Amino acid sequence: MRSIVYSRTGPSSVLESVERDAASPGAGEVRVRVTVSGVNPTDWKARASTAAPLPFDEVVPNQDGAGVVDAVGSGVDGLEVGDRVWVFLAAHQRPTGTAQEFTVLPAERVVKLPEGIGFDVAASLGVPAMTAHRALTVHEFGPTRLSAGALDGRVVLVQGGAGAVGHAAIQLAVWAGATVIATVSSDEKAALVRAAGAHHVVQYPSPDLAARILEVAPDGVDHIVEVSPSQNAALDVEVIANHGSIAYYANNNGEEFTAPIVASFAKNVRWQGLLLYTVGPEPLAAAAADITAALEAGALPVGEDAGLPLTWFPIDETAAAHDAVESGVTGKVLIRVADDLA
Ligand SMILES: NC(=O)c1ccc[n+]([C@@H]2O[C@H](COP(=O)([O-])OP(=O)(O)OC[C@H]3O[C@@H](n4cnc5c(N)ncnc54)[C@H](OP(=O)(O)O)[C@@H]3O)[C@@H](O)[C@H]2O)c1
Repeated sequence: MRSIVYSRTGPSSVLESVERDAASPGAGEVRVRVTVSGVNPTDWKARASTAAPLPFDEVVPNQDGAGVVDAVGSGVDGLEVGDRVWVFLAAHQRPTGTAQEFTVLPAERVVKLPEGIGFDVAASLGVPAMTAHRALTVHEFGPTRLSAGALDGRVVLVQGGAGAVGHAAIQLAVWAGATVIATVSSDEKAALVRAAGAHHVVQYPSPDLAARILEVAPDGVDHIVEVSPSQNAALDVEVIANHGSIAYYANNNGEEFTAPIVASFAKNVRWQGLLLYTVGPEPLAAAAADITAALEAGALPVGEDAGLPLTWFPIDETAAAHDAVESGVTGKVLIRVADDLA
């Protein structure tokens, strides 16, 4: 089978296309024939990072993907050969990402696709949708699970709504009944977040951002999904409601942030970090289940019309796909691994 691998970290040129034997699934594992591999910032960052030695001789990149169950190991319940699935954290603490024709991974990271959901949608879920789910469910008095109506009456601010995580946060929050405000940096991105379902859009940078958000939510916003705390912390505290949560998941544009202390504690603000790799199995399982319900409701479409333009690459151009994500291409970067995109 075709695999894209790297055996040392570095620029995308360390990625090589090789032939490898497909592995067999062990106990508790599933083998998936990959149709689409999804690329996220974490994939190029892991490939490029020199912070630690590579823990495996050879790594296949990309955490997310979609395909069809091809073999099932012993002790696996609920998944069968032929099931159409999406996968998450495929390359977490193992070298077997989705940039290859077959990948073996623990059964709990493989989720059945509801009828009629395409592999393009499926390969776009993983990291973005699970991060968004967690960000929307860490409120002190909010629901820990999402469903239609779970966020009724709440206001969600999605900072950077045209990002992949931002897009998923808008879609999940709208499905769950929230009023959603999204921030963006351009008219083009404003059109995308509206297409994703955001009810209100505010463009940054702007001196009156806080006033415009508070016009929509005079008592403040309940949940903030934050991609750039170093730039937005003061604004977040200004617009957050009493007991609101600011779930920050990225360090875009800065490694540190400062926040006004008195205003934070006076509003009982919850500054909530989140990292999918360390969040633990329960939140991941909850996210997978709720995302499945959202898919069944048709709430997570992709493509330009749904606010998430797709940029496709063939598997042999995985390096270019990584570069596209690193350069900040708007929307979702997907790799076509097999042609049966039904
Ligand atoms: N903690 C976790 O588990 C986790 C999970 C998923 C992703 N991440 C991280 O999250 C980040 C985003 O991932 P992604 O896939 O969504 O990337 P993406 O599609 O490139 O989106 C990033 C978005 O952030 C926006 N942005 C940047 N600075 C902003 C600011 N000051 N205010 C508001 N928006 C701002 C960008 O918009 P403009 O360029 O128009 O400003 C862009 O839309 C990456 O750093 C990724 O590594 C972390």
